[in-house]
Amino acid sequence: MSNDAIKSPSDATIAARGGWVPEFVTRPSAPPIYMTTAFDLDDLSQLDAIATGREAGYIYTRDGNPNHEAFAADVAKLEGADAGITCASGMGALTAALLAMLKTGDHIVAARVLYGRTGQLINHLCSSFGVTVSYVDITDPAAIRAACTPKTQLGLIESVSNPLVEVADIPAVVQALGSVPLMVDNTFATPSLLRPIQYGAQLVWHSASKYLNGHGDVMLGVMVGASPLMRKIRGALSLYGMNSNPMESWLGSRGLRTLPLRMTRVSETALTVATFLGTQSAVTRVYYPGLPSHPTYALAQRLMPRGQGGMLAFDLKGGRAAVDALFRLLSEAIPFSPTLADARTTLSYPAGTSHKFMTAAERAACGISDGLVRLSIGLEDASDLIKELRDALSRLAD
Ligand SMILES: Cc1ncc(COP(=O)(O)O)c(C=O)c1O
Repeated sequence: MSNDAIKSPSDATIAARGGWVPEFVTRPSAPPIYMTTAFDLDDLSQLDAIATGREAGYIYTRDGNPNHEAFAADVAKLEGADAGITCASGMGALTAALLAMLKTGDHIVAARVLYGRTGQLINHLCSSFGVTVSYVDITDPAAIRAACTPKTQLGLIESVSNPLVEVADIPAVVQALGSVPLMVDNTFATPSLLRPIQYGAQLVWHSASKYLNGHGDVMLGVMVGASPLMRKIRGALSLYGMNSNPMESWLGSRGLRTLPLRMTRVSETALTVATFLGTQSAVTRVYYPGLPSHPTYALAQRLMPRGQGGMLAFDLKGGRAAVDALFRLLSEAIPFSPTLADARTTLSYPAGTSHKFMTAAERAACGISDGLVRLSIGLEDASDLIKELRDALSRLAD
């Protein structure tokens, strides 16, 4: 008989059941990543206790995982909400909430200017599922009031709009909506600078792929709000299978540890860079809510007194061709990257990326020109960024 045959358990059994160290009493200093599909259960009564919420625990990662819960709970705390859910992306979080809250025949009121894919998702719901939408100018409370009908279930806005960085008057929108709950995309502002729930919003969501993580290396979303509503949204999330993976939730949690520091830093740098851009002859207009020239400057001072964030936009003389030339000149220092809120400063082109799903006429109506550049300020030194931008802008004029 060979050695292998008498060994018990066999190599195959050791390999299949391995991966564990003996029980230990010290706790890890950083949270572990629960990279597991399911959780082992003692017996059927434990299954019932966990499934009905009598006992804390997890069963199957599509329905819940400690890394999802840790991230959502921290965002909920920062936003001043009771509870939250973590999703595979910002769009996943929005989809879970809309599927949970809307049915055929319902109506929603949405801001006329939204991240392009948010508008596209709403339009898809309308054309495929019989929901109706009224797009309104959210600076006009009378228009919001007039748009609401007995079938209106939800209002949707961004706290700071993408890409023209207009700050929403959330208290005025809440008042105009009356009993209709407001859902706010707080991706650009983050709870470090603005907490929509404090002003009466019911639900807040983020592309956590952006500032909440802050390092440009995850795809993640989160939605927070009151517990009963979140239970319903969590149900949709697990039914439709839209949750994130534990590793990315863990990275999101790690990113959150430095969120307030990063938001202070990018706000300071963005104001410095926006002020500089306003002096450049190649630039016809700068959009940053911390500049007195911005249409929502006063509102930003009231709702975002700690800083106005790291996003700004500017119009270049020369339209799309000038944008293309600028991106080539800056590619080594400030890359064109169709995202935002990386640790590095990045450039984007709304007409060709985030808002390409709108028609040219729709973009023009929202003020998104062919020469509009979006700048996401990172953690570099402001003086380096200014030097790089000055060099490139001066060569554009050559
Ligand atoms: C303001 C805003 N909201 C939502 C989203 C969608 O998030 P995600 O890409 O994580 O699905 C984005 C993506 O860029 C965004 O910029």
